[in-house]
Amino acid sequence: MRVGFVGWRGMVGSVLMERMVAEQDFAHIEPIFFTTSNVGGKGPNIGKDAPPLKDANSIDELKAMDVVLSCQGGDYTQRVYYALRESGWQGYWIDAASSLRMADDALIVLDPVNLDVIKEGLQRGVKNFIGGNCTVSLMLMAIGGLYREGLVEWVSSMTYQAASGAGAQNMRELIAQMGKIHGEVKPLLDDPASAILDIDRQVASAMRADTFPVDQFGAPLAGSLLPYIDKQLDNCQSREEWKGQAETNKILGRAESPLAVDGLCVRIGAMRCHSQALTIKLNRDLPLADIEGILASANDWVSVVPNTRAASLAELTPTAVTGSLSVPVGRLRKMNMGPEYLSAFTVGDQLLWGAAEPLRRMLRVLLE
Ligand code: HSE
Repeated sequence: MRVGFVGWRGMVGSVLMERMVAEQDFAHIEPIFFTTSNVGGKGPNIGKDAPPLKDANSIDELKAMDVVLSCQGGDYTQRVYYALRESGWQGYWIDAASSLRMADDALIVLDPVNLDVIKEGLQRGVKNFIGGNCTVSLMLMAIGGLYREGLVEWVSSMTYQAASGAGAQNMRELIAQMGKIHGEVKPLLDDPASAILDIDRQVASAMRADTFPVDQFGAPLAGSLLPYIDKQLDNCQSREEWKGQAETNKILGRAESPLAVDGLCVRIGAMRCHSQALTIKLNRDLPLADIEGILASANDWVSVVPNTRAASLAELTPTAVTGSLSVPVGRLRKMNMGPEYLSAFTVGDQLLWGAAEPLRRMLRVLLE
């Protein structure tokens, strides 16, 4: 199978390459690497030879692929995908970008949750397989068991989204902001006799100053938060919030009878792990132990964290989870609203299950 990779050098693409090398995916395919800037150059080090880089804007070169896997972003997809299809190309298009996600002839891939939907789609001749929004994918990796058992009436998700979801430059800016804050008050911090309110005043003034680095985020994130992610929609949701219900139901193959998912999406100063506080309205009262069993058995990566302070702080934080495929879910308890209201908190790596991992696994599904 000739697989053309576009956008392998960026952040999601690099994570994808790392994961594909780790899982020896390249042993099963003929990889061809494409570029928009360095035609003829050398591809990534994947432990086997690949031809020199080909032109990612050349429909003729792309047409020779059985699969094109793009992490290049939505603009590239818009520019190239339709022209490629119009040229008569019948191959599989796997994409990290959101452009084609909601198209009727595309499926959103998250195989631990929707392998049945994917397989049914393949049989129907679907050729476009798109990675989901990171928050949605991570939520479904965490609580997919409840959906699978038909226990969910609705979900409200309050998110704590990492800088990586906004891009590599945003991660750098977050650290620059942290450094700037620390630099401003270092002499006062070093003096144990200094007054905390003086430190606080200087921090606030540094964060509000014109010199504070905000080119990427548009506002200070370090020491603060951003209660709006992505574009503003006419219905007063942010686009990120809109995706919650639209993509969840598409992934589950129930776009015709959608379950409600809604909430607020917020950016916080974590590096690459998205967290979510969930309120889940179950459609019946079930003992908590049964719920924990259903959650834990849903896939190989979800784990139930005991609802204790010690376990939550040790296992249920971005710092604990970053760089790993594990998706812990904890803080599980019935809420004061009634026995059908479940609280949960989950954390997942935005670049792994949130972006790269479902794509490489879709390639494996095609190879089966
Ligand atoms: N839209 C997400 C975010 C990342 O801004 O965190 C991409 O799924």
